[in-house]
Amino acid sequence: MTDQSRPIEDAIRARRSVRGLDGPPLSAEEVEALVALALTAPAPHHTRPWRFVEIGPTRRETLADAMGAAWRRDLEDDAQPSKAVERALDRSRARITGAPTLLLGCLVADGLKRYTDERRWRAEWGLAQHSFGAALQNLLLAASARGLGAYWISAPLYAPDEVRATLDLDATWEPQAFVALGHPRDDYRPFDRPTPDLGTEFTRR
Ligand SMILES: Cc1cc2nc3c(=O)[nH]c(=O)nc-3n(C[C@H](O)[C@H](O)[C@H](O)COP(=O)(O)O)c2cc1C
Repeated sequence: MTDQSRPIEDAIRARRSVRGLDGPPLSAEEVEALVALALTAPAPHHTRPWRFVEIGPTRRETLADAMGAAWRRDLEDDAQPSKAVERALDRSRARITGAPTLLLGCLVADGLKRYTDERRWRAEWGLAQHSFGAALQNLLLAASARGLGAYWISAPLYAPDEVRATLDLDATWEPQAFVALGHPRDDYRPFDRPTPDLGTEFTRR
């Protein structure tokens, strides 16, 4: 390990999902700096498949209502007990309305190969999703390095029509995830992280 590699390795290890967030919201400059770093992620075929949206306070209630209604239908179809449904919906609403700063990440298919068979199209879309993960990791690492708290919320992937309609997004934008951002609450402790297990999760052939 060189002196140059140590800070980045420390930053990777130090990043955690911080769900205990306090205000104030990030400044416009902070948001733009983080998104600009997300937009340097690797992407397939030299594409730029990511779109980010900062969701201000005025749309949050409507967004939470629309997403909550969609999730309620799914949970009721799963025959979940009503108490568990209400608890899950309340928690999800609080996360959407209460995040000091809320970003939405979307994907577009611009530049992807338009295979007509399902197998290759799924693989091609998978490439874009890999790139989205890389973009979000950039953003989460940069937020952590700035002393901010942040975590990934995957709910938009399950209610894409409601997210697009509420935020007036183009029909070609595919909502993938929110990132909640703010300042870590003093009393927040992340979940224990298992030690990397190379014995199970890595092999050589
Ligand atoms: C694709 C993906 C989806 C996730 N969705 C959620 C989510 O909906 N809500 C949440 O609280 N955390 C979510 N997370 C965060 C994970 O729970 C978290 O990364 C994991 O528990 C490991 O903890 P760490 O990030 O602190 O290392 C998601 C992470 C990924 C990569």
